[in-house]
Amino acid sequence: MPGYEVFGSEEQRAINELFEVNGGILFAHGFDGLRKGIYRVREFERAFAKKMGAEYAQAVSSGSAALRVALAALGIGRGDEVIIPAFTFVATAEAVIQTGADLVIVDIDETLNMSPKALEEAVTKKTKAIIPVHMMGAPADMDAIMDIARRNNLFVIEDNAQACGGTYKGKYLGTIGDIGAFSFDAGKVMITGEGGMVLTNNEEFYVKARAYHDHGHEYSTKFSRGEEGAIGEGFNYRMTELQGAIGLVQLSKLDMIIEKQRANKKALKKLIVDLPLEFRKIIDDGEIGDSIIFFLPSKECADKFVGELKLEGLGTKNVPDAMRWHFAKHWKHMFNKYGWYKDRYETQWNASANLLEKAIALPIMVNMSTKKIDEIAEKIAKITKKVLG
Ligand SMILES: Cc1ncc(COP(=O)(O)O)c(C=O)c1O
Repeated sequence: MPGYEVFGSEEQRAINELFEVNGGILFAHGFDGLRKGIYRVREFERAFAKKMGAEYAQAVSSGSAALRVALAALGIGRGDEVIIPAFTFVATAEAVIQTGADLVIVDIDETLNMSPKALEEAVTKKTKAIIPVHMMGAPADMDAIMDIARRNNLFVIEDNAQACGGTYKGKYLGTIGDIGAFSFDAGKVMITGEGGMVLTNNEEFYVKARAYHDHGHEYSTKFSRGEEGAIGEGFNYRMTELQGAIGLVQLSKLDMIIEKQRANKKALKKLIVDLPLEFRKIIDDGEIGDSIIFFLPSKECADKFVGELKLEGLGTKNVPDAMRWHFAKHWKHMFNKYGWYKDRYETQWNASANLLEKAIALPIMVNMSTKKIDEIAEKIAKITKKVLG
């Protein structure tokens, strides 16, 4: 996820401009007389919504905040159940926990995204929302998920922290469900240091999201910020002008980032596709190509393969190195506190465990030379031979 690979002088210029033109006002609201009409966060929201083909965008302080704000906008709270996949970053679970709702975690399938079958089986009378996560750059099965949601009258929040700019059947990910949540943290496709976006076509959800991210502010055009009322409770999940200014620059690079990643992934895949490795099932060409994931026949083989990768100077991308943060089986700290899965998390999500323990993810970078791609392919071939014979 290479926003950081293409981060430098243009972003710096955008920051300098904030200081040179409007005296360095970094708050996204107010100071109207001083800021000379510069509202970078508002501009970033408009540009992002336009790019994704959505009506409304609300910038927030992180991807975690985007999820929390999205859940608040949908009115999710105590007594509700929210379904998430077992393979996601822990933030998806944390955001649900913070609403007071009950967390229901379901298996993934060979796409490494939420299994529609497991989802269907987990729906109860209390289920209020589903959060499919487009993990590691590739879309979840949105047709099947939306069908289940519509039949059961459930909201859908797409956690699109990891696949910004990806598409499913021609539509940008994050615009298919009721709300999309994006992250621009330091490791993502587009980066603003920390930052996130809430995207929706529903005006009511947008107004609620905007209010919740900013202490409930109603954003009246009739009153000043100090005089206006609140439409509900909220918190501070605001983005600063620094992030807005950087976000605009990074957004202008999004197409280039994805185009290069896809080309690099294609080139590497071509060189290793005939090896006896099973590749992750990708259901739509709209994936952003920032990783290549394959399965070994067993956990033992995968462990050995990772050891060999290290010896060859190659790293993995979250799978398996950061599984602790991305697989529910490791979230004992939450289960012990809140009770769900408390005495049984070790025996849950075995289908997911069977896939993940055999999986290896390699990062695909924007700035990968042909020579580097050839080198990686050679090393993968060598290791495959050594491990699988
Ligand atoms: C799937 C997923 N959801 C949510 C988040 C949270 O985003 P942030 O780090 O911006 O809070 C991340 C970040 O890694 C993520 O990968």
